[in-house]
Amino acid sequence: MPENTITLNNGVEMPAIGLGVFQTPPEATTAAVEEALRLGYRHVDTAAAYLNEREVGEGIRRSGITRDKVFIETKVWISDYGYDATLHGFDKGAGKLGVDQLDLLILHQPLPSAFDRTLGAYRALEKLLADGKVRAIGVSNFMPEHLDRLLTEVSVVPAVNQIELHPYFQQTALQKVHAEHGILTQAWSPIGGITSYRDAEKTTFDDPTLLDIAQRHGKSTAQVMLRWHLQNGRSAIPKSTKPTRIAENFDVFDFELTRSQLAAIDALDTGVRGGPEPDSITLEAFGRDIPEA
Ligand SMILES: NC(=O)c1ccc[n+]([C@@H]2O[C@H](COP(=O)([O-])OP(=O)(O)OC[C@H]3O[C@@H](n4cnc5c(N)ncnc54)[C@H](OP(=O)(O)O)[C@@H]3O)[C@@H](O)[C@H]2O)c1
Repeated sequence: MPENTITLNNGVEMPAIGLGVFQTPPEATTAAVEEALRLGYRHVDTAAAYLNEREVGEGIRRSGITRDKVFIETKVWISDYGYDATLHGFDKGAGKLGVDQLDLLILHQPLPSAFDRTLGAYRALEKLLADGKVRAIGVSNFMPEHLDRLLTEVSVVPAVNQIELHPYFQQTALQKVHAEHGILTQAWSPIGGITSYRDAEKTTFDDPTLLDIAQRHGKSTAQVMLRWHLQNGRSAIPKSTKPTRIAENFDVFDFELTRSQLAAIDALDTGVRGGPEPDSITLEAFGRDIPEA
């Protein structure tokens, strides 16, 4: 099996590296997706809340690569949680993407203050899976307590939990929970983009340990981080709108980090989250209307 493929817990195969499009403006999305597919990517991660699903679909169509060769992952936003709203959320996302079936549909966040709605949303994903509208289902930003609660109430174990994970924030306890349940860890901000958005003082891109390892392999720090994910069996979805970086982030299959290099990266964990605390996500603070298809 090619190294760029991971088998999910229901047997579906997913390319380990996908193109992320968070904060990619709609007008830049089609070109980024088209370029990524031209370079060999076969997986794109978008979300209803990114407001660029339509342009992702357009990029896939323009690439000329057949639908069955591209793995499309998208997310339902919290405003569309609850059983019926999430079923309709699928129609909105698939409609904008211009496809009948999604490869992976995940809940973007837990809603800890309205967990019943989260459960209703997940049950809708189970229904979509049973009906063949999606090939796999999962979650994002779930902490161990959210997974515990979910797993006692539902029948399908999520295939994926997409979480913030880069050398400065590694969530090892959560990764252990995933391994116990057969849930794939998918890293968002996999090259630490989020470390550069606010505090430009110390970013993963110019970390001395990563620079040293990168230099030894003739690679960039981004490539070293992606290699670290792959060698740990994780999926990663780096985002760029720049063709040279889109190419760089996929050129990661021709070198191998040593055990001591992997351990040196593991030792960079600061335990400090860059994104919002999952428990702070409420409809009042983060709700937004997701447009119809
Ligand atoms: N589930 C969630 O809650 C959640 C949250 C955040 C992100 N995500 C997903 O994860 C994807 C990736 O996360 P992210 O976008 O936050 O961070 P990221 O992929 O770790 O980093 C992206 C940032 O790094 C820059 N960059 C990309 N490649 C680079 C390279 N080779 N060298 C130097 N800089 C590089 C990009 O700028 P340029 O575009 O200018 O190159 C951008 O500013 C998102 O696009 C989205 O699909 C999910």
